[in-house]
Amino acid sequence: MGISVLAIESSCDETSAAICVDGKILSNFIANQTVHEKFGGVVPELASRAHMQNIVPVVETSIKEAGCELKYIDAIAFTQSPGLIGSLLVGGQFAKSMALSLNKPLIAVHHMQAHVLANLIDDPKPSFPFLCLTVCGGHTQIVLCESPTKMKVIGETIDDAAGEAFDKSAKLLGLPYPGGPLIDKYAKEGDPNRFKFPEPNIPDLNFSFSGLKTSILYFLQNAGKSNLFKEEFNATEEEKNFFIQKNLADICASIQHRIVTILLNKIKKASLETGITEICLAGGVSANSGLRKEFGEIAKKYHWNSYIPAFQYCTDNAGMIAITGYYKYITGEFSDLSVSSSARAVW
Ligand code: KG4
Ligand code: ZN
Repeated sequence: MGISVLAIESSCDETSAAICVDGKILSNFIANQTVHEKFGGVVPELASRAHMQNIVPVVETSIKEAGCELKYIDAIAFTQSPGLIGSLLVGGQFAKSMALSLNKPLIAVHHMQAHVLANLIDDPKPSFPFLCLTVCGGHTQIVLCESPTKMKVIGETIDDAAGEAFDKSAKLLGLPYPGGPLIDKYAKEGDPNRFKFPEPNIPDLNFSFSGLKTSILYFLQNAGKSNLFKEEFNATEEEKNFFIQKNLADICASIQHRIVTILLNKIKKASLETGITEICLAGGVSANSGLRKEFGEIAKKYHWNSYIPAFQYCTDNAGMIAITGYYKYITGEFSDLSVSSSARAVW
């Protein structure tokens, strides 16, 4: 048997454990937390408590599903940062306890690095160097990846993340959290060119989504009476709701189209500037059907080799932590048991 890594991910509201043997993911078990639904967002304290309840059965299930036994595990990998501190601590302490009791090395993994390396799980895999557009609920980045353990952020959001842009837009439309998948759903029936939301003018490879959110707010307050995105006409709640109801599909399609063009224009720029044409997507927002479609079209047009991980490796999952742990094992990047979890992390 080759190198076996047990990985734990607990950075936000998914408790997940995975087994990776020689770069192959044998199990990737994810427990979603439903406790947050009625609050319209993740409640950190409730997330930590749910992780505590989930962690033992989740780890047990992942070992069982992989047909593995604890004695065959060579290392324990875990998400050290970034994320909700209480949630990270649960996974971190559990991983440390396992490493200590099994007398196996511990591998601390950066969650955003792991999102990128999800592209190395299944074939076909990108060759190095590649660019990755990582689009999550909490982060949006363009990463230049030179090797599995050598990567640098060359662009990122200066305010909201792409997932937040979807979720906040959905909230303005009165849709429940997380609204990203709902915008995607309604957009399928709509005209993406019906309403023209402005594209921010940000130099370099950074992103900004907060202006879009404000323009949607004004647009809805104007109940479609103006395309100027200013506070011109204050519609009543009734007028606004009627307007949304009548035009929901077109509004969703237009918002989605704008978010997608903001994202793709920057990755296109990054490709032109670096000369790299191996291009990957990663993160929960890469589930968006509009993004996948337009990414595919642009890849064809510019002769890129494009890659998107399987859906289960796009949203938060321990499979991506396991593959990162595997590469760190090969390069000998182990952590001391004193390593501490961190809510914020620099690369
Ligand atoms: O990567 P992820 O699972 O969590 C973080 O690490 O942040 O991403 C979650 C985000 C949420 O904002 C959710 O609304 C968004 O991904 N999302 C989508 C879709 N599926 C998930 N956004 C747009 N369209 C989708 N189909
Ligand atoms: Zn994530």
